[in-house]
Amino acid sequence: MSASKYAEQYQRSLSEPEIFWAEQAAKLRWHKPWSKVLDDSKAPFYRWFAGAEFNTCYNALDRHVEEGRADQVAITYDSPLTNSLKKFTYRELRDEVALFAGALRANGVKRGDLVVIYMPMVPEAAVAMLACARIGAVHSVVFGGFAAPELAKRIDAAKPVLLVSATCGIEPGRVIDYKPLLDQAIELAEHKVTRTIILQRPQREAALIAGRDVDWQEAVEAAQPADCVPVASTDPLYVLYTSGTTGKPKGVVRDHGGHAVALMYSMKTVFDTNPGDVFWAASDVGWVVGHSYIVYGPLLQGCTTIFYEGKPVGTPDAGAFWRVISQHGVKTFFTAPTAFRAIKKEDPEGKLIGQYDLSKFKTLYLAGERCDPDTILWAQDKLKVPVIDNWWQTELGWSAIANCQGLELMPVKPGSAAVPVPGFEFAVLDNAGTPVKDDDIGNVVIKLPLPPGTLSTMWQNDQGYHDNYLSRYPGYYLTGDAGYRDTDGYLWIMSRIDDIINVAGHRLSTGAMEEVLSSHPAVAECAVIGVADALKGQLPVGLVVLKAGVTKSSEEIVRELVERVRAQIGAVAAFKQATVIARLPKTRSGKVLRSTMRSIADSQPHTVPATIDDPKSLEEIATALQALGYAK
Ligand code: COA
Ligand code: AMP
Repeated sequence: MSASKYAEQYQRSLSEPEIFWAEQAAKLRWHKPWSKVLDDSKAPFYRWFAGAEFNTCYNALDRHVEEGRADQVAITYDSPLTNSLKKFTYRELRDEVALFAGALRANGVKRGDLVVIYMPMVPEAAVAMLACARIGAVHSVVFGGFAAPELAKRIDAAKPVLLVSATCGIEPGRVIDYKPLLDQAIELAEHKVTRTIILQRPQREAALIAGRDVDWQEAVEAAQPADCVPVASTDPLYVLYTSGTTGKPKGVVRDHGGHAVALMYSMKTVFDTNPGDVFWAASDVGWVVGHSYIVYGPLLQGCTTIFYEGKPVGTPDAGAFWRVISQHGVKTFFTAPTAFRAIKKEDPEGKLIGQYDLSKFKTLYLAGERCDPDTILWAQDKLKVPVIDNWWQTELGWSAIANCQGLELMPVKPGSAAVPVPGFEFAVLDNAGTPVKDDDIGNVVIKLPLPPGTLSTMWQNDQGYHDNYLSRYPGYYLTGDAGYRDTDGYLWIMSRIDDIINVAGHRLSTGAMEEVLSSHPAVAECAVIGVADALKGQLPVGLVVLKAGVTKSSEEIVRELVERVRAQIGAVAAFKQATVIARLPKTRSGKVLRSTMRSIADSQPHTVPATIDDPKSLEEIATALQALGYAK
């Protein structure tokens, strides 16, 4: 491969995007061709493959069955948490999906209707997603680790006609009863869900509510298989809610055609995979990584994908990943850096790696949070394969910055996700919108139009899309990240510019946690900041000011606050630390100095803003954070 392959493709993706993406689209099957590759008539709202008809499920399943992959394994479900292993060939998966699609239809789901899916990491989650796609319904998967009030928020925002769930999820050492969570969420939501389909898992049988809940098995047994329905390429395939700066999650909308084209392209270009390869993303269907690289990407590319219900450590040990890679012949493995930090902590010498045959394993991909250079170097040293950091976001849907191994492997610079992927034109701007010099940090933005596969809008909220992402710098998409470009053209993403934090690769809103803390009757005001953590990247810490006259002890209030965040957002928020303080440091105009507090907590240099109301308040914060083990 010539050394300029990346540069040539990258340039072409920007100079002739319509020809470039039409070439990629030709690898898929279209029910009706597009009239316009890029419809810019409603800019800055762009649409890819306008006028075309397409079906994602057809391209992910039926196409492969028809083209000779019927007996190849499509999904391997490997669950150390339940001691199960199950494989579905493309034919079997297509048939299961067609039946479940029939069951959805029999339960009132029509083309364009929205279905919420709240499921653990079982293959039925993929069956439900693909079944929606098959009949032109829109799915919205909610991560199974979110508590009932968060699920209720998403039900109210998405307004589903039906909800698909299971009786339980499994975490190490405990079964998470989903049914009570589901009932509570349905009760809390203003939008009334009148029909659910529930998968009874052997670990937990649950009583169903007559007239509302339908048993998965019974629904499937009664169903007629449904065929793929051609939909407009620009129709929504799914909505995925992600954390914004407030407690209100943002519903990212993904279309059918552009999404499939982009994922197929990334499977080859970024991940260097071919049909028949075994691809494993150790994440969860509730996150965008699960959508793009557990379900849609590998299946569109004709790969075998692994559904892993387990953890990197403790199921049963820090060799779990190597066992799966070796047992299933994984070629490409994708996970979050935090998982590697957990493994490194338990097996620093990487001794368990030597117990497995990893001869088929070719590349490790890491994403979801900033990857510290130590973790990359450790993984490179122990695994002896290229370790490729890649940067993207729920909104973008696929890797936007990466070392595109499918074109050529460039030198790895630990700490940088490397270069823009073809289709993405980045800029780094100062607050006034002027590009900064190389090596200077600024706001990372992407020039419009974004390539296919990225968000087309926010669910039923074009204005929200515009206000959140497009208005700050006209002509650009605001990523919300700060970073810089070096003189070799590598991009270095360093932090967020807002109050979103990243805990163990999970994107969380400190605003949502602050809402929960503020709702406690003893709390007058509060702030939640993300502090650096060696394992999870960041952890939330609550700083609360109590109302006058509160008689409860601070310890008791902190315990209640921790319990509240767990019950209202979920254990996944990892909110375990809070402290009571006399006052929050603020500017004279009343703005809470969150980023200064963050710097103090992380023992980073900081300047005291000239507008601070009382500099002593920062000293008090430093003392409070020291008591929690920070600000050393
Ligand atoms: N349902 C219910 N609870 C869940 C859950 C789910 N689907 N997923 C996580 N939780 C709970 C956990 O049990 C834990 O509860 P606890 O506070 O009672 O221990 C809490 O949420 C935090 O979970 P997690 O973030 O998984 O942390 P952990 O301490 O259990 O494990 C790691 C740490 C590093 C092993 C783990 O975070 C991990 O595997 N990360 C991989 C990263 C990843 O998949 N990121 C997705 C984006 S790519
Ligand atoms: P999510 O939408 O959950 O995928 O989170 C996206 C955010 O995670 C980005 O905006 C970044 O802040 C962060 N992120 C994801 N991948 C990386 C990476 N490779 N390097 C640095 N930050 C990352």
